[in-house]
Amino acid sequence: MSEPAALAELAGLIEETSGNVIPPDHYKFLGETAKRRAASLRLAGVAAYVGALARGELPGEWSRLLPHVTVKESYLFRHPQHFAALATTILPRLATARVARRSLAVWSAGCARGEEPATLAIALAECRELVGWDWRILATDVDEEALAAAGAATFGERAVADVPADLRARHLLRHGESYELAPALARRIEYRALNLVREPLALSPALFDLVFLRNVLIYFRPEVQRRVAAAVAGALAPDGYLFLGPAETLWQVASGLDAVDLGDCFCYRHAGAAAAAAPHRRPDAQRRPERPVAAATALRPTVHAPRTVVLEARGTQERLALAARHAAADRFDDAVELVDQALLADPSDAGVHALEGFLHDISGRSQMAVASYRAALFLDAGLFQVRLLLADALRRLGHEQRAALEYREVLAALGAGRAHEVEALAPLALPDRREALRRCREAVREGGSQDLAARPL
Ligand SMILES: C[S@@+](CC[C@H](N)C(=O)[O-])C[C@H]1O[C@@H](n2cnc3c(N)ncnc32)[C@H](O)[C@@H]1O
Repeated sequence: MSEPAALAELAGLIEETSGNVIPPDHYKFLGETAKRRAASLRLAGVAAYVGALARGELPGEWSRLLPHVTVKESYLFRHPQHFAALATTILPRLATARVARRSLAVWSAGCARGEEPATLAIALAECRELVGWDWRILATDVDEEALAAAGAATFGERAVADVPADLRARHLLRHGESYELAPALARRIEYRALNLVREPLALSPALFDLVFLRNVLIYFRPEVQRRVAAAVAGALAPDGYLFLGPAETLWQVASGLDAVDLGDCFCYRHAGAAAAAAPHRRPDAQRRPERPVAAATALRPTVHAPRTVVLEARGTQERLALAARHAAADRFDDAVELVDQALLADPSDAGVHALEGFLHDISGRSQMAVASYRAALFLDAGLFQVRLLLADALRRLGHEQRAALEYREVLAALGAGRAHEVEALAPLALPDRREALRRCREAVREGGSQDLAARPL
């Protein structure tokens, strides 16, 4: 077997075993890893290594290989908007819902080296309503080396850089250049190896009140995301809360889970629970929106059948540009297909999330459009056209005050020279700077005369 063929087979084995897609442009790195692993096992080379791995002749090898091929990027208080939402909204709500049993079960799925469960422990310890409660965190990962590191509950300077000083002082013990999570909190975290793509998930407890599954699904193919999301949803209490990473959405992924807008971020809940907690909407909020850009073509309903994504040898920008051309020509299904492919190949491209939002928008899924626009703006805050679309979508959903903030932010960004466009989206004829200025000024003027009372979750 040639080395390229061996690497393609190895990528396939990794995907089959862990769900993680290794894009072809990572094969060079994969080859170096495979060579090192082959040398340490005294095998002849990459092909011999892959062959032995495929035949199941290397016991324990997956535990040694997976740490090299899964992404471990994490730090405490990553995506602080999630922890702000926990503190202000989610934990007080759970405290009310669980007052009879005074216990909470929390799951950090894909916990890396323990940064996320440590942050959850701090957030739970800080919640006044939970003082004296029996809350527990299950922290799982497929990477056993990462779990061993997590068990030490000790972090370097970089990992704790975003922990607010008062919380650092209360919950982290400094030992030279490292920081240990206070033992009283660390004791409440249980670490366990768990591969999310191997079902059934065999969890204990069987149901969790709060699940963090952040920045894990983005590395999986849509069909695997769908399976994992369904399995995780099965472990979420009927009135529980699920958080994903800001660049992840469950659109086309999980049926039965709905996005709940928390202002700066989203979480997901079982459909019934989400409806019960949905923000008050104006009676017309569910109507099909106007197309978010001036375009001559009429809206057509889109049908999104489950599709098999075939990764073609195209770069993200090429896929994005082609998808934008399809969308501009109302070939929405083709555009969706390319956006799916582009997200799979590079989930961190702001333009792709922006186009995903646009496609939601023109199909009347304003809530999902908001999630995608936020993901795009999380990755690139200067995309003024995307912020304008976000503001329009928020307004359609009845969130006047949040929309007004976004319109003002567009004006501020344009005024301060920190606004820019996504070139690849040019075919969509999104509002240019002058048009955006005009629209935002008008919206802010109109907003001034409206009742802008905040609407909580
Ligand atoms: C980028 S880290 C995310 C860490 C943390 N959730 C956060 O958002 O900061 C992704 C984690 O998912 C884990 N992972 C990847 N595939 C997995 C699988 N099949 N089952 C469980 N965990 C997996 C990786 O080992 C890694 O620790």
